[in-house]
Amino acid sequence: MSNRMLAEDQHTREGFPMSRQTQNAYDVGTMPLVTGTLTPVTIRAGRPQDADQISDLYRQAYSASNSDDAQEHYPFPQFLDPRRLRQLANGETMDWVVAEAEKKIVGTIGAIRNIGRADDGVAEYFGLVVNETWRGKGIAGSLFGAVYEKLTDKARFMIAETRTADAGGWRTAKKYGFVPLGFEPFAHNTPAGSETMLLLGSVPKQARHQRDVGGHSSVAVRTLARTVLQTLHLEPLPAVERSTYPITPQPCHELLSKLTPAHPRLKVSGLGLGKADDVFHVLDDKMVAIQLQQEWRSFSPHLSGVVGLSRLEGEDPTGDRYTKKCFVGYIGKCPVSCARIVWDHRDHRARILYLQTRFHGLQGLMVAEILRFLETQSRYTPVSVVIDVRADYPSLHATLEELGFFPTVYYPCLVAGEKGRLDAVQYTRLYSRPFQESLKFVRALGWFEANTVVKTVMSIEKEVTHRSIERRDGLVATMRCSHS
Ligand SMILES: CC(C)(COP(=O)(O)OP(=O)(O)OC[C@H]1O[C@@H](n2cnc3c(N)ncnc32)[C@H](O)[C@@H]1OP(=O)(O)O)[C@@H](O)C(=O)NCCC(=O)NCCS
Repeated sequence: MSNRMLAEDQHTREGFPMSRQTQNAYDVGTMPLVTGTLTPVTIRAGRPQDADQISDLYRQAYSASNSDDAQEHYPFPQFLDPRRLRQLANGETMDWVVAEAEKKIVGTIGAIRNIGRADDGVAEYFGLVVNETWRGKGIAGSLFGAVYEKLTDKARFMIAETRTADAGGWRTAKKYGFVPLGFEPFAHNTPAGSETMLLLGSVPKQARHQRDVGGHSSVAVRTLARTVLQTLHLEPLPAVERSTYPITPQPCHELLSKLTPAHPRLKVSGLGLGKADDVFHVLDDKMVAIQLQQEWRSFSPHLSGVVGLSRLEGEDPTGDRYTKKCFVGYIGKCPVSCARIVWDHRDHRARILYLQTRFHGLQGLMVAEILRFLETQSRYTPVSVVIDVRADYPSLHATLEELGFFPTVYYPCLVAGEKGRLDAVQYTRLYSRPFQESLKFVRALGWFEANTVVKTVMSIEKEVTHRSIERRDGLVATMRCSHS
């Protein structure tokens, strides 16, 4: 095919530059460079033997100037280890695509085909990088396009977490119809500093048609939803004020009256309650947590309202970067809830990735206990805590807002529910980090819709924080009165 024909082909699909279908979804053949040079660049599926060069690309892009410290500045250190990368590239769950020029790998991108259960169909893009001397020639766009073409028919939701200090990532995703959903303050420690990430999503029409619009959100969640959904022409769930779930330890007998079984099949008869002053307590217990997760396998992983997806996690061969913990909540001797967290000490970020409860009403006590653990362990060093929850759980929203969280990302039609696809919302809680500092790069985004979302999160943060300070002051005043 001549270069002219290639260029014409490129323009036949509005907004989808460079990608062309040939025998295999990734083998898009050679492409002319935007600069006009004729060096052929091949976009093809990554192979295990590319691992060394792919690792090098990440190492070069994420080392601060004049040093080789990518280990400190890249959220997925496993990709810096060619041996581990070889295993991952060989696996069933990930797709790797590379750009090859002059017999060298000059760019790459990866995607996990589904980070949820089969019916969730949530694909996550990661690791878009192009060698410095090959940038600005449309290679990132072609890499992204190749993965997009492969995933777009099967995925019901596609997530791309993009940098704000480098506009190349979000600009590329934007061309493929990704829309801004929110941002995650201080998400990763990159060479640019503690960088806030812009969360983008692609929601295929089919998923939008299956959207479950039953249920209510908190006022704060609805405010964010209204802004995010505008671009997709969807309506937010109505808002409702709900009381919070319990968040302070209390005797189990008292607590039980405030709980309801999370599912009819999760009803328990004997809880083995001991003394009348037994309080709900939480233990760090991986073995019991694994048993509970096995028991809960036949239930939706989103049953408690906390979204249970397996987002891409970093792996650290040195063993000191992450604290990964499983917590189990007990009523008497009976384990009734469990949660899993991953705390990244380089990113100063903890994520609550899984939380299940036998009873609705225990979510707040579990999250409060996790926060207590993080507060004690971090000893006033910065930490951001992130949790994704369903948009139709207003009591959980009220609880998180009471605990100092505020909504930062709204995901329409993210996961599968019984009656259709469910919206979800990411909440963030910041410790020893002024929110305003996270906006360093975010404020300068040259994308109108993204800026609108950013401004909305800013106003919600102000409002939620203000309300929680007022409540705390009110509580202190009440305590003072009752002591005098
Ligand atoms: C981001 C990166 C992959 C872009 O690669 P690339 O091949 O130069 O990108 P392309 O030439 O395909 O350009 C893609 C789009 O981004 C824009 N772009 C690329 N780099 C940019 C930059 N530094 N600033 C502003 N815009 C940029 C291009 O103009 C183009 O948008 P347009 O078509 O609307 O003009 C590359 O700069 C890189 O490896 N950066 C370091 C790692 C990184 O930040 N990865 C992104 C993670 S989200």
